[in-house]
Amino acid sequence: MPGRRRPRAPGHPPRLGPIPGVRRRWRVAAGPFRRLHEAVTRPARHFASDNYAGITPEAWAALAEANTDHAPAYGNDPWTQRAADLIREVFETPCEVFFVFNGTAANSLALAHSTQSYHSVLCHEVAHVEKDECGAPEFFGNGSKLLLLPGENGKLTPAGIEEAVLRRTDIHYPKPRVVTVTQSTEVGTVYTPAELRAIGAMAKKHRLRFHMDGARFANAVAALGCAPREVTWQAGVDVLCFGGTKNGIHVGEAVVFFNRELAAEFDYRAKQGGQLCSKMRFVSAPWVGMLREGTWLRHATQANRMARLMHELVSAVPGVRILFPTEANAVFVDLPKRAIEAMWAKGWMFYNFIGEGGCRLMCSWDTREEDVRSFASDLAAAMA
Ligand SMILES: Cc1ncc(COP(=O)(O)O)c(C=O)c1O
Repeated sequence: MPGRRRPRAPGHPPRLGPIPGVRRRWRVAAGPFRRLHEAVTRPARHFASDNYAGITPEAWAALAEANTDHAPAYGNDPWTQRAADLIREVFETPCEVFFVFNGTAANSLALAHSTQSYHSVLCHEVAHVEKDECGAPEFFGNGSKLLLLPGENGKLTPAGIEEAVLRRTDIHYPKPRVVTVTQSTEVGTVYTPAELRAIGAMAKKHRLRFHMDGARFANAVAALGCAPREVTWQAGVDVLCFGGTKNGIHVGEAVVFFNRELAAEFDYRAKQGGQLCSKMRFVSAPWVGMLREGTWLRHATQANRMARLMHELVSAVPGVRILFPTEANAVFVDLPKRAIEAMWAKGWMFYNFIGEGGCRLMCSWDTREEDVRSFASDLAAAMA
């Protein structure tokens, strides 16, 4: 019912609008022509989110390969075993691995598993767990509370963590028990191994567990060019929510416990949280496709490379201001309202409400150089 469609939330690009010069009655009657028109006149790839991108050929092929005959359900299949083993190979350690449907569930359940209801979780003030998970971490944590910390470029610091822990130690305050960081961060920056080791040491000093939201972990590792172990368990990370979706898997994130004691009974928590997939092989098989032969890092490297190109091109447009260092696959820019609207009107999709504000231009595994160049040239026209 057209009259009852939900309005767009602020910051979201408008829905695809009417085709100029085409009368409504004709448009309705000519659905296929309308779709064809849109296909040839609108950009095919956008910069709103890496969630807009499709599935990588490798993940897709593994999915098809898994779609033969029968296999045991609920994760007792060879694909899930293989995917977990590949994750252990990637991290070079015998970690415990659980697959869930999405990042909100991965973060919320991992945090809930690391706390009691009277505990608190220290996070950055723009962390996804705070801003974009609809209160799920507190819901699944039965009341455990997020405590928000400031920090430049979307990052926590050891000093900030210590200050938050020591601010109050009385019985009336929710006891800090976990520190969580996002790698790469919500504003497109990347924690270095040294920064993570320093946070890990501070966490250890104050008996905090160390959680990492790695929705874009692949982009961070590709950017740093380090071994995944250096930015996880060797830095003191207890549990990582390893993102698959944004890197080109259709659905699914892996909760990876380096602290294996902490993993005890997580399978029950995931089941209770509605996150145990019955046909699990279709969640785990794409991981096999992505983790074989470093495919996950190749795709993340492409997304990062496109973000660097975007940074270079849009920073040369007069009046455009880059807001944060471009270290992974996102570029944040400050644009005037009229330019934002002109770009949306041209069909480009991007958000202007994420992180600390500004427009987020997110590159994906399938972003091509021509997409970036075409966006930058439209932006130059919109800014003129
Ligand atoms: C930093 C971060 N963490 C986690 C997620 C996962 O969220 P979702 O529940 O939408 O998969 C996202 C997705 O946007 C994200 O950007």
